[in-house]
Amino acid sequence: MTTELETIRQKVIKCTKCDLCQTRKNSVPGKGNFQSDVIFVGEAPGRNEDQQGEPFVGIAGKRLTLALENAGISRDSIYITNVVKCRPPNNRVPSVLERNTCSEYLQKEIFIIKPKIICILGNTAFNSILGGSEITKYRGKIVRKDEQIYFLTVHPAATIYNQELVNILKSDISKLFKTIRELKDNKQVKIDIEYTS
Ligand code: URA
Ligand code: SF4
Repeated sequence: MTTELETIRQKVIKCTKCDLCQTRKNSVPGKGNFQSDVIFVGEAPGRNEDQQGEPFVGIAGKRLTLALENAGISRDSIYITNVVKCRPPNNRVPSVLERNTCSEYLQKEIFIIKPKIICILGNTAFNSILGGSEITKYRGKIVRKDEQIYFLTVHPAATIYNQELVNILKSDISKLFKTIRELKDNKQVKIDIEYTS
C-alpha cells in the first residue's frame, strides 16, 4: 500500500469526526489493490464489517465476490470502500451530515488511486457521489462527470432478497470489466449519461 493510503487508513481508524464513532467497534477503511483500475463504493459497514474492520466481508460481500468471480476477477485485484467508514446503528442509512463529514476520505482514496472507473453500488453511493436516485432504473449505465467515468449497479445486499438481481449484478459486473478492458485498449466507450457541473 502506498504511504498516502496508509495515512488515510490510520486517520479513518482513529477518526471521531461524526457521531458514528461512538457506536462503532471498528472503523472500516477501504481495502484492496491500490493500483486497481476500479474502485467499488458501497454504503457503509454492516455488522460483520464493524466487527472485523474490513469492507464487504459479510453476506453482501459474498454476493459481490461471486459476481466478481463470475467475471473472472479476484477480490485482491480490486479496491473496495464505502461512502461512510463506520457502521450506522442497526444498519440505518447514513445521514447526509455523516456522509458529508466522511466524504474527505473517499475523495482522497479516489485522488490517490485514480481509477479508470468508479463502480457505484446502490442508491446511497449513487446519491452521495452523483446526486442520483432510483439505481434500479439507471443500473448498467456508464456515466461521465468532470472527466471521471462511473459505472452504476445495484447494491450486492439487494440481491439477497431479490433473486432477479443476482443475475443483474453478475451481468453488470461483467459489463464493467469489459468496459475497463476497452478503456485500457484506448477504445471508444459509449457514455450513457454525461453530467455537467
Ligand atoms: N454493505 C455496504 O454497503 N458496505 C459494506 O462494507 C458491507 C455491506
Ligand atoms: Fe469519521 Fe467517517 Fe467514522 Fe464518521 S463515519 S467517525 S467521519 S470515519
